[in-house]
Amino acid sequence: MASLPPFAAVIVAAGKGLRAGGPLPKQFAAWRGKPLLRHSAETFAKLGAYPIVVAIPEGAEELAAEALAGIDGLSFVKGGATRQLSVRAALEAIASAAPSAILIHDAARPDCPPTVIGRLLSALESQPGAIPVLPVVDSIAIDHAGLMAGAANREKLRRVQTPQAFRFPDILAAHRAWAGAAEAGDDAQVARAAGLDVALVEGDERLRKLTFAGDFRTGAPMIRIGTGYD
Ligand code: CTP
Ligand code: MG
Repeated sequence: MASLPPFAAVIVAAGKGLRAGGPLPKQFAAWRGKPLLRHSAETFAKLGAYPIVVAIPEGAEELAAEALAGIDGLSFVKGGATRQLSVRAALEAIASAAPSAILIHDAARPDCPPTVIGRLLSALESQPGAIPVLPVVDSIAIDHAGLMAGAANREKLRRVQTPQAFRFPDILAAHRAWAGAAEAGDDAQVARAAGLDVALVEGDERLRKLTFAGDFRTGAPMIRIGTGYD
């Protein structure tokens, strides 16, 4: 892959992982032999991201330092009560470093292919924001108390992933402008609300988010069996 333009990264890892359960928040649980959070931090560090700011829960400093031992260029910030507040805290922490491009990523998506990062950063050359998306392949029904109340046309729907890439000053301003507004689904929503154009680039199934305990059990390296169907 051609060399990447310089970029900084935010990894949000300050959630409680309630749906996954377990003794530790899921970002510190093991997946493919390492703490979940370590996977994306290593990928970003290897690709030269600097700085890399990781939002962590209050009181989790030791857990985070242990999970990320030996990775260069990291700093930590205390996350907020919502994902969006965790992102905001991390952005504020690097405001003075003022990188030109930033990737904002969920620790809960450990497998981050460098090809997607390349696509995002290329898109930033012409747009202030870029996000990875995938098509919806199933039909979509609208559930009204267990009865079908309608259907959505999936042709124009997309599944949105992270990392999401932005020109740093633009997304910082967008988050500051959003403050106090309702909870945002993601940073692209914050960007669009501030009037920024957000480009859609091709996402990757490997960027799936680990949400439930069962998602960790399916984390073993895939063995392809010659069924003739794949
Ligand atoms: N996150 C965060 N700060 C919060 C909430 C979430 O940094 N206040 C982070 C999580 O650590 C995760 C990412 O945002 O990496 C995506 O959130 P999600 O998958 O919902 O994780 P949790 O909020 O931890 O899980 P749950 O919703 O099941 O409690
Ligand atoms: Mg959550």
